[in-house]
Amino acid sequence: MTMQQIKTTPFSDQKPGTSGLRKRVPVFQQANYIENFIQSIFDSLEGIAGRTLVIGGDGRFYNDVVVQKAIKIAAANGFARVLVGQGGLLSTPGASHIIRHYKALGGIVLSASHNPGGPDGDFGIKYNIDNGGPAPERITDAVFARSKVIDSYKIVDAPDVDLGKLGTHKSGDMIVEVIDPVADYADLMETLFDFDALRALFAGGFRMQFDAMSAITGPYAHAILEGKLGAPKGTVINGTPLPDFGGGHPDPNLVYAKPLFDLLMGPDAPDFGAASDGDGDRNLIIGRNIFVTPSDSLALIAANATLAPGYRNGIAGIARSMPTSAAADKVAEKLGIEMHETPTGWKFFGNLLDAGRVTICGEESSGTGSNHVREKDGLWAVLFWLNILAVRKQSVEAIVKEHWATYGRNYYTRHDYEEVDAAIANALVDDLRAKLPGLVGQGFEGMTVSYADDFSYSDPVDGSVSGKQGIRIGFSNGSRIVLRLSGTGTVGATLRLYLERYETANGHLDLDTQSALEPLIQLAERLSGLRQRTGRAAPNVIT
Ligand code: G1P
Ligand code: ZN
Repeated sequence: MTMQQIKTTPFSDQKPGTSGLRKRVPVFQQANYIENFIQSIFDSLEGIAGRTLVIGGDGRFYNDVVVQKAIKIAAANGFARVLVGQGGLLSTPGASHIIRHYKALGGIVLSASHNPGGPDGDFGIKYNIDNGGPAPERITDAVFARSKVIDSYKIVDAPDVDLGKLGTHKSGDMIVEVIDPVADYADLMETLFDFDALRALFAGGFRMQFDAMSAITGPYAHAILEGKLGAPKGTVINGTPLPDFGGGHPDPNLVYAKPLFDLLMGPDAPDFGAASDGDGDRNLIIGRNIFVTPSDSLALIAANATLAPGYRNGIAGIARSMPTSAAADKVAEKLGIEMHETPTGWKFFGNLLDAGRVTICGEESSGTGSNHVREKDGLWAVLFWLNILAVRKQSVEAIVKEHWATYGRNYYTRHDYEEVDAAIANALVDDLRAKLPGLVGQGFEGMTVSYADDFSYSDPVDGSVSGKQGIRIGFSNGSRIVLRLSGTGTVGATLRLYLERYETANGHLDLDTQSALEPLIQLAERLSGLRQRTGRAAPNVIT
């Protein structure tokens, strides 16, 4: 084996976004593109010698090639050991747990989450630190700075590792352990949830459909739901991970998981429907006859947390991303616990979780999780719901309606305008930002603007400040308009418009969501000119 130092030239576009470096596959296929980025990560870390690195991905196209490169670059950079999931696979929450459980220095997670895969689809590389969570901006900034000046990378001249075979292998002098991607994660879930109660639920005839969307949660869901919990075979559909997700779009929302939604609204609906995304960190929760918004799901899980054994002693606090509805705030208020509003992206929850200030976190974009790992966790949310259903012995619909009748209802929707011309999108955001100071105190549609700003977050744990995190226009009655640019899109710009209206517990709790929000949708158009300036008649995706 020889360690080689290969000359390279930098790329100018390796800036990690909301969740790692995400680009179209052909971009990653450029000579040295992967090597430069991974070397830039390692150059930004301290204390590699003698430590363990975790590597795994969601199995999308190019996963196999990148895993082998990452192993060889890790070996040349002095890691003592790499833990890699069999077949190069690990779900994102699975990887987070493995990093924590085996006290690794960090992990390289290969995924573009819910974005489509295949040769013309997306790919992504993300570095997670030793707490199992996405690297904070201090590290991603250092990686980007390094990537702009890098002139060589290190790699061992060794054969590929047989990732199909569990057990100990070598790459150069480095040990490579090929591990079962599911086993440790399944054990962790068993410590958090009442598996006996869940077995009894399924034995009693409870019917569920879990759509793994031909992505990474298939093996996890088969092993846990059908294997450990005895759910009937066929409960998990699309359970084999495919490099192109079967040509589908592995985003568990009402557009891409429409068949599941239709099933749950139909005459022969099972009791419960759920889905997860490309890398297993997002979740979709649908009861018979009712879709549970991710913001409501966060609030409901927090309110019912003590029903699950892992949370029996209560939760320390809740955190939600800024665009997520304030439904969880009402729960925190009632429980008398801390509530935090953070910028979009899971990485902002890491410090709060590490400091023990919050236990449950969530984002409106179908992300829910807790202090058990440092990523959001799709299957965890599904198991939490099952645990709640098993204990309360009520339907999802009854539980949600009871929640609204206690806390009030936060009507909520997100409108996405994808692949918008970047210059138009940026100008639109800039123009709206410029208007903000003049809006405070003004009346619209019978409501008064109580604040209008570009969200800035000051981390209460390390004091770091993250500015320009999205425009918020808040009204005195709890309604909100939020507008921000996506940090994960790979083509043009994606504008996300978030709308929220609060109804008290004795208000109108049964309205249709889009109609309930129509006045706010129109007001957002009036203030931003979004549809007019982008030339779009309607959003591409409504969630
Ligand atoms: C999107 C979601 C955000 C989530 C991220 C990664 O980011 O909005 O909540 O954390 O994907 O899954 P965005 O494209 O909006 O920057
Ligand atoms: Zn994801």
